[in-house]
Amino acid sequence: MNYRHAFHAGNHADVFKHAALSFVLERLTEKPAPFAVLDTHAGIGVYDLAGDEARRNPEFEAGVGRIFDRGLDAASAYMERLREANGAKLTVYPGSPELIRSFLRERDQLIACELHPEDAARLKARYRRDPRIAVHQRDGYEAVNALLPPRERRGLVFIDPPFEDEAETERLTAALASGLRRWSAGVFMAWYPLTDARVGERLSRAALAGAFPKALRAEFAAYAADEASFRGGGLIVCNAPWRLDEKLRALCEALAGVLGDGRASWRLEQLTPA
Ligand SMILES: C[S@@+](CC[C@H](N)C(=O)[O-])C[C@H]1O[C@@H](n2cnc3c(N)ncnc32)[C@H](O)[C@@H]1O
Repeated sequence: MNYRHAFHAGNHADVFKHAALSFVLERLTEKPAPFAVLDTHAGIGVYDLAGDEARRNPEFEAGVGRIFDRGLDAASAYMERLREANGAKLTVYPGSPELIRSFLRERDQLIACELHPEDAARLKARYRRDPRIAVHQRDGYEAVNALLPPRERRGLVFIDPPFEDEAETERLTAALASGLRRWSAGVFMAWYPLTDARVGERLSRAALAGAFPKALRAEFAAYAADEASFRGGGLIVCNAPWRLDEKLRALCEALAGVLGDGRASWRLEQLTPA
């Protein structure tokens, strides 16, 4: 396990991914019944943008650094969280568990899994006093099988793997399919990098295997293929909340004007069985 998110936190892909995550969380808080979130690959929660890792190759400058001062009306809840975490000056980046935490009400819960021992220890320490949050040092894919469905009948599974090796797509595809079988009412959100077109295709097929009518595929590339080796990322969302597509469209339009070098592109597709 070499991947450490501290080197990448707040980059252009994080901005797209986390703004989209905030849309789903916002919708979950619209109903009074409690919800549960399983964050399978959680990282450390909050990233110090002045720390060694972030400074070595400051990817955040071309990501959150471009939106922090000017704002992002298309993702106001996400912007609010960035401002709450930072005040007036951008110094930290809230990762997925911290964003999720900020939406939890008294009876909602977050289960966060992180396999890396040091990162899991940091995450545990961060949330040790919050009874709504359980941190497990464990394989997030196994947690999908072991912990779903949660006792709350509504909620989200957020799957954001590092894509360090070839087997990742296979494991993610299997987890998505088995998670949907176990918890057919849950929203599932899985992230993938736009490095190999086959990954998005395979995940789309896995989303459709459960015959879920409300599956969306959204991709945002800050750069053109000949400009950067890491262009951006995609999301597969199963049981997508109503009008998520509209919010994602507005988000992509807004981000295309701010991120990248003027050649950003995006796609949004409602997945339907062939
Ligand atoms: C892309 S980062 C996650 C970032 C985080 N979701 C966020 O948005 O702030 C992937 C994380 O997954 C962890 N990881 C790798 N393999 C894992 C596995 N099988 N189960 C759980 N965590 C894993 C890595 O240590 C890394 O912290």
